[in-house]
Parts: sequence; C-alpha cells; structure tokens
Amino acid sequence: MDISSDQLDVLFSAEDLRIRIKELGAQIEADYKDRDIHVICVLKGSFPFLADLVRQIKHDNLSVDFLGLSSYGNETKSSGVVRMTQDLTIPIEGKNVLIIEDIIDTGLTMHYLLENLKTRLPKTMEICTLLHKPSNTEKEVDMKYVGFTIPNKFVIGYGLDYAERFRNLPYIGVVRQ
Ligand code: IMP
Ligand code: MG
Repeated sequence: MDISSDQLDVLFSAEDLRIRIKELGAQIEADYKDRDIHVICVLKGSFPFLADLVRQIKHDNLSVDFLGLSSYGNETKSSGVVRMTQDLTIPIEGKNVLIIEDIIDTGLTMHYLLENLKTRLPKTMEICTLLHKPSNTEKEVDMKYVGFTIPNKFVIGYGLDYAERFRNLPYIGVVRQ
C-alpha cells in the first residue's frame, strides 16, 4: 500500500489536538500538585505529544526520560513481540512515573512495558495515551489519561507513522479507503 498525504481525511486537526492536550495537561497538573512527576516518553511515536503535553503542565518538579520500543509486525498491525530499542537513562525507583504513549491498540506493547518497568520499583505508575483504539484490545491496561478514543482505523501523523513516514504531519489523519 502506498499512501500520499492528500489521500488523508483529518481525524483530529492541530487545533483539536491543542485543545485536548491543554485539558490533559491541566488534569495532570492538578493530580500531581503535591508530588514529583517523572515523565517517560515512549519513542518514537510519542515525541510531538510529549513536547506539547509537558508545556501544558505547570510543575516545578517534572523530569523527562525516553525509552524506545518497537513492535515487530507489518506496517499496520503490531505482533505483540516487543523489542526495547533504547532504555531509560534515569532510575525510576521511588518515582511517580507517568508513561506517555501515542496510541494503545491491542495493549500488548503497553502490557510488556508495564511488566518491565514494575520490576524497577517506581512509587506510582500511570499511563497517559493520546489515542485509544478499544476494538482491538487483547491485554487490558489501566489508562488514567486518554486523549481520544477512536474507531478501528489506521491513523497517521503527529508522531504516528506508516512505515516510518508521516510522523511530521501536524494533525492526525486517516487513510481514505
Ligand atoms: P499495540 O501493542 O497493539 O497496543 O500497538 C501499539 C503500537 O502499534 C503503537 O505504539 C504504534 O506504534 C502502533 N500502532 C497501532 N495502531 C496504530 C495506528 O493506527 N497508526 C500508527 N501506529 C499504530
Ligand atoms: Mg508507539
């Protein structure tokens, strides 16, 4: 399948994203008012979301780290076999960890990540995902913050890729069938 950006319908415009991310930031800011937040960005897809979200959280004790995950599979379907391509640089023991994800589809990637990070003894650990596709759930994971719940469509842009392309789109689009 080849895709060009003029075959895309806009699902969430840059303005839709801005408004919702501002709300999420306010919610996180209130919830973490009295404790540190250690944000973990799951690369690669979450980088634009992370950058926009943390700038909507007023907090004097917020730190950021990155972790790379890649799930084997074809371009549009994850296999659940996850590989860590880059590990954290800061220990998370005793920290209030907030995992930032672009999308949770089957839940297999996040399930793998939670099992891995739990062994490192964070004080608390919550998930903030921009998108959730509940129709494909294979592993239930507890998501405290969800930007948008979406139907079972393959979406690209704003960090989300199709075969490594389109991460640079400022909006989230869906391929017109
Ligand atoms: P899961 O393991 O099925 O929950 O899938 C998680 C990963 O699959 C995400 O982090 C994305 O990299 C990828 N993914 C799932 N759905 C989409 C989509 O609609 N567009 C782009 N990537 C997706
Ligand atoms: Mg991802």
